[in-house]
Amino acid sequence: MRFDILTLFPDMFTGPLTESILKRAQQAGVIEIALHNIRDFAPDRHRTTDDAPYGGGAGMVMKPVPLAASIGHVLAQYTTPPPVLLLSPDGQQFTQAHAAQLAQLPALVLVCGHYEGVDERVRETLISHELSIGDYVLTGGELAAMVVVDAVARLVAGVLDAASIHEESHTDGLLEYPHYTRPAVWEGQAVPPILLSGHHGEVAIWRRQQRLLRTLQRRPDMLTHAAAAGLLTPADRAFLATHGWPTPPAAAPAAPEPSL
Ligand code: ADE
Repeated sequence: MRFDILTLFPDMFTGPLTESILKRAQQAGVIEIALHNIRDFAPDRHRTTDDAPYGGGAGMVMKPVPLAASIGHVLAQYTTPPPVLLLSPDGQQFTQAHAAQLAQLPALVLVCGHYEGVDERVRETLISHELSIGDYVLTGGELAAMVVVDAVARLVAGVLDAASIHEESHTDGLLEYPHYTRPAVWEGQAVPPILLSGHHGEVAIWRRQQRLLRTLQRRPDMLTHAAAAGLLTPADRAFLATHGWPTPPAAAPAAPEPSL
């Protein structure tokens, strides 16, 4: 999968995208990340990329000409144009479901917004979708783009061992079970004995119950959603009931999965 990132600050990406798993995935040719400096597409001598907003007010707005030219330059390299996503606090909240959907694509263009925002005409004509990584405002879209690339890239086939994605938080509506490794006793705290028992079936049941319990305690909203989406077995429901879970009505409407 190829990621084209359009940014005013390409140096910010050194480190997060050049270390660890993403580094190995790029070396293996499973993913490709191309950085494009929007400033290179500014036609004037000063390479201006922002200007004051029409109508007055605080802050600066990203000019349409360099932004549109940079997007056009990237899209010209494709026969089938990939989606162009703008990272913005006004966008749809990015979720694991988006990550899974995007990881199926051959390519993705990410535009990092800056200043007060981008000229609305570019948003309307060249942006396929806007994504936010949370309800807070960053200094720009770069960190958000890195978050999206990281979350998507690890789901691209061949980047991680498939087993490690299987039962992790947010993939199937439940949080993860707790993990332990050697030593068996650390500072007086022993690992749960079931994990040392060698009974794989019982370990699997314990882990499932830990996922249910953790989700009930930390994210009861997720449990309600999992129940409505039919992701809980009768055994899950019975276990949760013994921990005081107020079983939601069977006909509770399932919240729609976010889609791009
Ligand atoms: N740019 C500034 N804040 C952002 C956010 N929360 N998500 C995505 N892009 C942003």
